[in-house]
Amino acid sequence: MKHLLTINDLSLMEIEQILHDAQSFSKGEKWNPAEKTFVANLFFEPSTRTRMSFEVAQKKLGFEVLNLDCGFSSTQKGETLYDTVRTMEEIGAKAAVIRHSKDRYFEELAGKVNIPIINAGDGCGNHPTQSLLDLLTIQQEFIVLQGLKVVIVGDIRHSRVARSNAEILHRLGAKVYFSGPREWYDASLAEDHYLPMDEACEMADVLMMLRIQHERHECKSGMTSGQYHEAYGLTPAREKRMKDQAIIMHPAPVNRGVEIADELVECERSRIFKQMNNGVFVRMAVLKWALEENLKEETANGYLVK
Ligand code: CP
Repeated sequence: MKHLLTINDLSLMEIEQILHDAQSFSKGEKWNPAEKTFVANLFFEPSTRTRMSFEVAQKKLGFEVLNLDCGFSSTQKGETLYDTVRTMEEIGAKAAVIRHSKDRYFEELAGKVNIPIINAGDGCGNHPTQSLLDLLTIQQEFIVLQGLKVVIVGDIRHSRVARSNAEILHRLGAKVYFSGPREWYDASLAEDHYLPMDEACEMADVLMMLRIQHERHECKSGMTSGQYHEAYGLTPAREKRMKDQAIIMHPAPVNRGVEIADELVECERSRIFKQMNNGVFVRMAVLKWALEENLKEETANGYLVK
């Protein structure tokens, strides 16, 4: 059973195919499952973009969408995640899209469930569809990622985007750097790739700002929002010193006036809302990939008798 749990579950060829399909979907290409197909969305943590864009993607592909209202589901009575997903499987869902606050929640499912799991974000761990939509946005801008300078700025340690994006961008030949508060840096990342914020803004082709993940902080940092903005935020003065062709990205939701000045969120070089638009097409391509891969597996194993 093929799942999409981390971006490293995909080969470079599979990533290329998903980005190609996403680009085709953005231009109006159609694809539908051969028969009525149910998919389940299980969001145990808040989400606006990921949840809504998965639902739009599913509806555009003609799926029947099952949205579990997690606050009123039997998980509130203590039912395990495994039993919840097995229930979805038994009632006919052909895939489950899951967001959960627990890091690597999927380890309790892998090898035990018979429908593909698409990770829509696990704790501080992974967010593979965000990485894919970020890649599509960068590729649309620069075509070739080889040698591109990407700087990831901010709350790196608590982000589920920073490490997976750094890994996949590195695999694709980009040069990845980091900036932000030292106390939120991740010790597993290369020390010599850490830059002061002013230098980061001047050298970046892609400046990827991260949200401060207040909900994952064990204690408050000593900084006010204003102090953070001055020290590590993208201010109008810093934006003016960026390269002419450089772009600004942010996975959103944005803390306006903290990671990025309010007036820069929709400035000419910002691709923040483009990222959200691309999210629909990337998620259509991921759902197609998951369904097709598992159909191939079922056919090869002789489960499907047509
Ligand atoms: N970028 C992102 O994952 O946003 P949501 O939390 O709103 O889904």
